[in-house]
Amino acid sequence: MAATFELAAFVDDCRRLAAGPHGPARVLERMREALADPAGIAAAVQPLTPGVGALDAPLHRADDLTVLNVTLAPGLVTIPHDHAMWAVVGIYQGEEVNTFYREAGAGQPLAEANRRRVPAGEAILLGEAVVHAIENPLATPTLGLHVYGGDLIGAQRRMWDGALDGPHPYDIPQFYRWSRELALSRRAAAGA
Ligand SMILES: [Fe+2]
Repeated sequence: MAATFELAAFVDDCRRLAAGPHGPARVLERMREALADPAGIAAAVQPLTPGVGALDAPLHRADDLTVLNVTLAPGLVTIPHDHAMWAVVGIYQGEEVNTFYREAGAGQPLAEANRRRVPAGEAILLGEAVVHAIENPLATPTLGLHVYGGDLIGAQRRMWDGALDGPHPYDIPQFYRWSRELALSRRAAAGA
């Protein structure tokens, strides 16, 4: 029998699993189960209205776990950033392309390591040290459910600018500003 997604039960399960052995891997499994019911997730969480960031409207925020409903607008790109904790990213509509980076050493720009496309129905686990950037390559919104192993909103995080220089302390307005500039410069380069 297919389970219907229920947000409170999902959050409770994630908290319980995260606190146990192999917590992040168990949360990843739980996310994959949830993604079997994309319509149920969509009914339980509202897509964010444009201009409202996922960090402004967490589905759950506590010291041990944060759950976000993340809407990626068509064509959205972000600058590279870390989370300072593990993360499970599940996509229930559209797709998210992840670019992973290697820190090349003090004073050196980030180096691109690899890419991974996460289509609807799939989830990935990101370790605590991961630095990534994401994009929505589609002309439609990408919707995701993200679980973080701590208080993401209160965490000391890092980000890099569009030229991969940094790290800079994570700052939400600056993050969105640089991400928008990066999207514009890529669009201009693609049209040139
Ligand atoms: Fe991220």
